[in-house]
Formats: sequence, structure tokens, C-alpha cells
Amino acid sequence: MFSRIAGRYDLANRLLSGGMDLWWRRCLMQVVRSARPRRVLDLATGSGDVAFSLAHSLSAETEITGLDFCQPMLDQAIAKQKNSDSRAAKIRFRQGDGLNLPCADASFDAVTVSFGLRNMADRDRALREMRRVLAPGGRVHVLEFSQPQPWFAPIYYFYTRRILPTVAGWVTGDRDAYAYLNATIAAYPGHEAMSEELLRAGFREVRVTRMTLGIVALHVGVA
Ligand SMILES: C[S@@+](CC[C@H](N)C(=O)[O-])C[C@H]1O[C@@H](n2cnc3c(N)ncnc32)[C@H](O)[C@@H]1O
Repeated sequence: MFSRIAGRYDLANRLLSGGMDLWWRRCLMQVVRSARPRRVLDLATGSGDVAFSLAHSLSAETEITGLDFCQPMLDQAIAKQKNSDSRAAKIRFRQGDGLNLPCADASFDAVTVSFGLRNMADRDRALREMRRVLAPGGRVHVLEFSQPQPWFAPIYYFYTRRILPTVAGWVTGDRDAYAYLNATIAAYPGHEAMSEELLRAGFREVRVTRMTLGIVALHVGVA
């Protein structure tokens, strides 16, 4: 499905979120930066927006890997990288499955996964894989849609069910893909249940920051 929408993915993101996705990723950067990681994995990197932000937010020595299982999405990232600066040029983009990461144990100080965990076929396994590749004390950062505050829920779900697939269909030519994404948003746990999932996967000191009336949440856990 991501192969089909890869070419228009960035444009659709900007339009459908009204540009808020840029702000959500900026909040993610602030939190990642505070721990000064040296080796960072951006899982489900897609077209690479988070990986590029990491390259520009963290010190020039930071090693950044962007990993995704969808080659056409990675091709978008690699095309952007060719027209970018020396910091972005250092990002290593590679193909791999989040459920079976092609990475050694304890090989990263931070993992970011932005709007990717929701799409993984087995969330618990994906979280355990993230924990495996983190060094002790390393942090996972899960930026993802969440459940909105109750008063806002009817407006939000009207938007995601009725307006979002139609507009996305015009932009990407693939209404079905966004109807599927809408279903994954509705089925995704709220912030408290997500914190529990992180704890069950072995993370500790789990903290959550809710954004934009709860429609997005950033969970951080320590390995
Ligand atoms: C909605 S995009 C998010 C891309 C990017 N992180 C962002 O914030 O824009 C979700 C990405 O998750 C990737 N993905 C889904 N399941 C995956 C898995 N098991 N392993 C690796 N990548 C996966 C998809 O290929 C897609 O690029």
C-alpha cells in the first residue's frame, strides 16, 4: 500500500494535517535532542522526514539510520538526500522489517518511530525488537495518532472518516489506502493503553506528551 502512495506521501501529509505534522515532528526532535544520543535508528522512516530532522537537530557526529520495509518509500528519501546537504548525506537508509530488525542487540542509543507503529502487523513484537536493539538506558520515542479528547472525538472522526479519504484520494489517486489508514487510526489504543503496551514490552519510566487535543501522542520509554 505504501508503495502505491509513496510519490505523493509528503504532499498528502502536509495537506491532510494542515501542516501540523511539521510541528509534531519538531516536538519529537526536542525530546530526542535532550538525551544527546550518538546512534539513532529511525524506524519506519518512510520518505525520511524524521531522519532528516534528526540529522539537522543532533550533533554532526551522530550516526543516523533510516529503516523501512517499503523500497519505494525509501527511494523518496534517497532522492531527497541527493539534493540535500552534508549532514543529510550521512544518513544511512536501508531496507528492513521492524518485526525482525536486521540490527545487532544494543546497537542504538535512541529509536524513533513516527506514524509507523500503527501500521506494524504485530505491535508487541515490534516494540520488543526496538528494545532489543537499544543499549541499556537508551530511549524509544513513539510518535503516533492517539485517541482525541472526548468532546473533540465526533468532529475528529467525521474528518478522518468522511473528509480525509476523499481529499487524500484526490491528492494521491488512492482513496482506498487512506480509508485503510483511517481504520488503523480508529483501532489504535489511547495514550494510557499505549503506555501499558510499552511497559509490557519491557520499557520503564514511560512518559507521554499529548498534542493537538489528544489526536497525537509522543510516548518515550527507557530500555
Ligand atoms: C505513515 S508512514 C510514516 C513515515 C515516516 N515515519 C513519517 O513520519 O512520515 C509508515 C511507514 O511505516 C512503514 N512500515 C510499516 N510496517 C513496517 C515494518 N514492519 N517494517 C518497516 N517499516 C514498516 C511503511 O512502509 C511506511 O513507510
